[in-house]
Amino acid sequence: MIQAKKSIHELTPYADGNHSDYLIKNHTKILKLDSNEPTITPSPKIVDAITAYLKHGPLYLYPDVKSETLCRKLSHYTKLPENHILTFNGSDHALECIARTFLDKDNAVVIFQPTYDHFRVYAQSCDAKRVNINEQIADTLLQRIQTANEQNIRLVYLVNPNNPTGKTVSKDEIIEAARSYPNTIFLIDEAYYEFCGVSMANLVTDFNNIIVTRSFSKAFGLASVRCGYILAHPNLCESINKIRVGKNVNALAQIAACAALDDVNYMYSYVEEVSMAKNWMIKQFEAKNIPVIKTPANFILFQVKDPENVVDFLERQHIYIRNRSMMPNLKGYIRITIGNRETMKKFWTIFETVPQRWIA
Ligand SMILES: Cc1ncc(COP(=O)(O)O)c(C=O)c1O
Repeated sequence: MIQAKKSIHELTPYADGNHSDYLIKNHTKILKLDSNEPTITPSPKIVDAITAYLKHGPLYLYPDVKSETLCRKLSHYTKLPENHILTFNGSDHALECIARTFLDKDNAVVIFQPTYDHFRVYAQSCDAKRVNINEQIADTLLQRIQTANEQNIRLVYLVNPNNPTGKTVSKDEIIEAARSYPNTIFLIDEAYYEFCGVSMANLVTDFNNIIVTRSFSKAFGLASVRCGYILAHPNLCESINKIRVGKNVNALAQIAACAALDDVNYMYSYVEEVSMAKNWMIKQFEAKNIPVIKTPANFILFQVKDPENVVDFLERQHIYIRNRSMMPNLKGYIRITIGNRETMKKFWTIFETVPQRWIA
């Protein structure tokens, strides 16, 4: 039996959400609130653009490997020059390329816990030493990093706002840390940027050790077509581009992302809807004295006595949410995606039928 290399052989893989054939085929009959996808379809203009490409576009040709039109639109959206932008087949693909570009066995990577777990997988697969730091351990980002007591921190991975806790780190903290560790890359994962409206994007022109990753899967609603991008100093982009597979940003993803950027108002109105639905949901939980952790993103956490039974019960009613109870600091907590108010009201009606003995 041929074994994978040691770092892969010993790796605990990322635990995917519920993304099965059954759920996708039955998407209109279920409430999928486990992976922070939107609960509505994306802009009709995106559907029109994809349909037109399917009818008239050259499906037989490779896509534009530089995503030139998309980068131009992203430059407008992010207010950064095009040479600071690289596109990817989802932001996970960007995280993977960043790990492969910068990490090897002599490097340490700081990851705050609990957090989105995919970067851990990529860092470990590159043999990097992983240093987990509890995100609650100290006041500022710099103080937290210093607790690692590590000489050779090559990269700090920070999800901002964090998934699943919603914790945010301010621009001043990031500047302080990036100045104190000029040879360390600060990788800021902004998958939920559109929901919180705060970004570190404008730091990447002045700091050649900050990389921002973004996704079209969340507020723009394009999880199925896979598109993400990074914002970074041109020197960093040049290095990452050496291993980036431009063809992986497939033609339909490029077309869809361009159409999404041509109709940002659709996205903004969904963000507004999520904000109203979130306030409503928080009030419902609070009225029942169920502890809630609010976040600036499109998810919140709530705490119950028996999260496994609650998740199982709801799954039997075709509602999918994510048990986060096994993560540090999150005993008893379940993460729920916030979608539009109509969906959250449907959720609530069924949630009220969960036996009380599992709630408190
Ligand atoms: C923090 C964070 N980063 C990245 C991703 C993956 O995004 P994409 O679909 O662009 O690969 C997710 C998805 O849940 C996420 O929560």
